[in-house]
Amino acid sequence: MTIYQDIIVDHYRNPRNKGVLEDATISESLKNYSCGDTITVYLNVQDDTITDVRFKGSGCAISQAAASILLENIKGKSINEVKKLTYSDIQELLGVKLSPARVKCAELALKAVQKGVTK
Ligand code: FES
Repeated sequence: MTIYQDIIVDHYRNPRNKGVLEDATISESLKNYSCGDTITVYLNVQDDTITDVRFKGSGCAISQAAASILLENIKGKSINEVKKLTYSDIQELLGVKLSPARVKCAELALKAVQKGVTK
C-alpha cells in the first residue's frame, strides 16, 4: 500500500469533521446518481470565510475519504477560494489518479460544497 492509499484508508476509517453542524449557515446534500450514495455538507460561514465544517453520508471509501480530506482543507478558506477548487485539487489531496467512475465518488463532496456556496 502506498502512502496515498494509507491517507485514503485513514480518512475513511477515522473521518474528520463527520457529523451535523447544528449552527451551519449553509447545508447542501448531493446524490451520486450512478450509485445512489448521498453526502450532506454543513458549513459555517462568517465574513466570507468558512469557519467550521461537517459532513454526513454513507458511501464508498473514496467518497468518504474525499469528503473528510476536502472539508479539513477548506476550513479557514474564503468562499472565492472554495469556488475555484476543481477535481484536480481533490486528486492532489488524495494523491491518486482515479478511474472516471471513481472520479464521481471523489468529487461528490466538492460539488455539494460548491453548490452550497453559490446559492
Ligand atoms: Fe457511491 Fe462511490 S460508489 S459514491
